[in-house]
Amino acid sequence: MSTHALRFYDCFPPADSFRSEVLEGLGACPKRIAPKFFYDAHGSRLFDAICELPEYYLTRAEIEILTTHAREISDLIGPGCLLIELGSGSSHKVRLLLEALRPVAYMPVDISRDHLLRAARLLAIEYPWLEVHATCIDYCLRLDLPYCPEGTRKIAFFPGSSIGNFEPEATVAFLRDVARVLQPDGALLIGVDLKKDAGVLHAAYNDSRGITAQFNLNLLARINRELGGRFLLDDFEHMAFYDEARGRIEMHLASRRQQTVHVGGQHFRFARGETVHTENSYKYGLDEFQDLARQAGFQPLRAWSDRQGLFGVHYLSAGPA
Ligand code: AVJ
Repeated sequence: MSTHALRFYDCFPPADSFRSEVLEGLGACPKRIAPKFFYDAHGSRLFDAICELPEYYLTRAEIEILTTHAREISDLIGPGCLLIELGSGSSHKVRLLLEALRPVAYMPVDISRDHLLRAARLLAIEYPWLEVHATCIDYCLRLDLPYCPEGTRKIAFFPGSSIGNFEPEATVAFLRDVARVLQPDGALLIGVDLKKDAGVLHAAYNDSRGITAQFNLNLLARINRELGGRFLLDDFEHMAFYDEARGRIEMHLASRRQQTVHVGGQHFRFARGETVHTENSYKYGLDEFQDLARQAGFQPLRAWSDRQGLFGVHYLSAGPA
């Protein structure tokens, strides 16, 4: 099979960022570790499994929107763009757009190197007409794209409500950074989970098969594997709840007992019930998110939701009004 149209740009910071951020986060009060570290090879597979869970409505609702409105979306975007996908993972959703869109190039951007490469290879084989520029970076830092052809319209695709991992203020700063890359005539197609009934949200992050628990606990397993940590996974418990006032799901790993854990030559004390905060997942109403987008310099042109009103997809122009 010819995959001549695949380029790989490895711009990921040294493995050291995991070590230093984990040690800093475990030393902080309250303890925390950023959700971007969920996605080692095993974590990426667990996340794919989450997307298939009956309780995890996000993926299905977004796919329904992208499928239902594929025509309108591709008309808005137009042919011949550079399509940049942020947090591309397995690149499943972009397949819904590629045929109709016919971009000149597709640039999947992800922090999970091996997962990214595997997905990009499969895609390049499946779409021989498409140039693929796989880019391994941490987009939470500055969005510095190694391939940025001038004169080509740039469209960013940021599905899955990964934007919900940022704090609201950081969301605006991040969107500003994306807008800078997309100027002068680009646009952003972004999936954002909607605020809704707490019971539905609770179930989505506390699935009955315990896959989300495994995904959360894999962070400790990864620290054991990569940093010589001594976490006993049975001593920690997955915890996820909806904070209605803040409009966010919080995920934590709670210590089942008082204990001291060694990681990379340091030790960390846990009281019984003390947690490591591992994720926030903010939910935004359509209007609420459009306000944030405007603050970042985007013009909201269109927003769709699924029939059940669970999930939103926005089309935001980075160009002048
Ligand atoms: C990839 C950040 C959108 O918050 O729903 C899934 C990650 N965490 N189950 C989300 C996640 C627990 C997911 N995002």
